[in-house]
Amino acid sequence: MTIWFASGNHHKKKELSDILSPYSINIKIPSEAGIEFNPEESGTSFLENAMIKAKALYDLVGEPVIADDSGLCVDALEGRPGIHSAYYGGEGLSSIERNALVLSELGDNPNRGACFVCAMVLYYAPNRFFIAQEPLFGNIVKDMESARGSGGFGYDPILYISEYKRTVAELTEEEKNRISHRGRAGIAIGRLLG
Ligand code: IMP
Repeated sequence: MTIWFASGNHHKKKELSDILSPYSINIKIPSEAGIEFNPEESGTSFLENAMIKAKALYDLVGEPVIADDSGLCVDALEGRPGIHSAYYGGEGLSSIERNALVLSELGDNPNRGACFVCAMVLYYAPNRFFIAQEPLFGNIVKDMESARGSGGFGYDPILYISEYKRTVAELTEEEKNRISHRGRAGIAIGRLLG
C-alpha cells in the first residue's frame, strides 16, 4: 500500500519508510508528485502541527495521509527548541550552527536532560484519524567536541543515549529506528495499517 507523508524532509521520509517497511507500506511525499506543500505550522504543540500538516495534505490529495511533527525539547531551556526545532536560531542556520546554539544556551548547566518528541497522525478523513506521540530521552553532550557521529540528521549528534553509550548520530539506522521517537510512533501507526 502507498500512503502520503506530509513532509518535505527526505531524512524523515527515509526513516519512516524503513520503519514502516515490515508493514509493506510505501511512503510518498508531495514533492515526488510535483505538489507544492508548505503549510503554516501555526500550532502550539507537536500534535497540533501534525494535525495541521495532515489536514492540509489530505485536502490536496483526498487520500489517507501520515503526518508528523517532531523536535528536541531541552529541560533546562524550558522545552526549547521544541516545535521551533527546524528553524531554531533562524532559517539560514546549518544543523551544526543550530547544535552549537543549543549548547551555548545550555552553557555548563549540569541539568542536561532532553528528549526528542514525535507526534504522528494517520489521517483517513476529517472525522477519522489516529494519533501516536512518543519520546526518546537522553542528555545533551557537554560541548561540540563531544557532538559525535555522522548518522541521522539535525540534533542527533548532541543527544547522548546513556544506555547505548553513544549519541543518536552514532547509532546505526536500525538502532535509531528501534528506539527513536519517530520509530516508536511509526510502529504504533504501522500496526494500525498492517
Ligand atoms: P518538522 O519537520 O517540522 O517535524 O521539524 C523537525 C525538526 O526537528 C528537524 O528539522 C530537526 O531539527 C528536529 N528533529 C526531529 N526529529 C529529529 C531526529 O530524529 N533527529 C534530529 N533532529 C530531529
